[in-house]
Amino acid sequence: MITKERQCRSYKAWRGYFNYIQKMKILNLYAGLGGNRKLWGEDHQVTAVELDPEVARIYQNYFPNDTVIIEDAHEYLVNNFEKFDFIWASPPCPSHSKMNTLMYGFKDSKRKKFEYPDMKLYQEIILLDQWFSGKYVIENVIPYYTPLIPAQKIDRHLFWANFKLGRFNLGTKTTIKGSDAKEVSSFYGFDIRDYKGTQRKDRIARNLVHPEIGKYILDRAMNLIIKTNVKQVVLFA
Ligand SMILES: C[S@@+](CC[C@H](N)C(=O)[O-])C[C@H]1O[C@@H](n2cnc3c(N)ncnc32)[C@H](O)[C@@H]1O
Repeated sequence: MITKERQCRSYKAWRGYFNYIQKMKILNLYAGLGGNRKLWGEDHQVTAVELDPEVARIYQNYFPNDTVIIEDAHEYLVNNFEKFDFIWASPPCPSHSKMNTLMYGFKDSKRKKFEYPDMKLYQEIILLDQWFSGKYVIENVIPYYTPLIPAQKIDRHLFWANFKLGRFNLGTKTTIKGSDAKEVSSFYGFDIRDYKGTQRKDRIARNLVHPEIGKYILDRAMNLIIKTNVKQVVLFA
């Protein structure tokens, strides 16, 4: 029989767990400007890793409470993944993209040398799938080859994750056309006009994951973490 006291203890445990999960430790790898991060709010403890110091500077301006680390994300992941509850990674996509084959295949293309698909993408998926106890999601483009590990598709992205993402339809314009950085500032709310680094501004812009997709996926991961853990917390209260 569930006594009133037991009910009360269960509720307290549940509240405690709920508060904890509201403040997750999140790792945002290959952070870019923070498109996927934009609607995550300020309750979580977010660590962002980005190699381009200029992109990192702009990210930090938009998310002053995040810890921003200018480092190689691949190396950071292998050394630190156990410290986090949720990991998002958006490794660079050009070597997997259909553009890679297009540029190589065309007779008149300036690029005569084929670029190997960067296997770090799969290294990271395997690492997290095998050893990470939290929830993870790795985002990339839909590649020109059949993905070596099955993935889930949302909009123009493929996601590898240890949970089901379900269906999500943005229903709005999601691709950024043109190379005008101003357009980007109006479309996603990021302004990169004062970027002084070496990457093309339109490329940086096109890299952005739509903020609504980032929020949808984080919410989904949080709901699953709460559901699976609350049962245990209440049981042992
Ligand atoms: C696809 S974009 C990320 C987009 C981001 N998810 C968003 O929604 O804004 C990839 C980013 O990774 C950065 N990058 C590339 N190689 C890196 C590395 N080895 N370590 C960390 N960041 C890297 C690039 O400068 C770029 O900003």
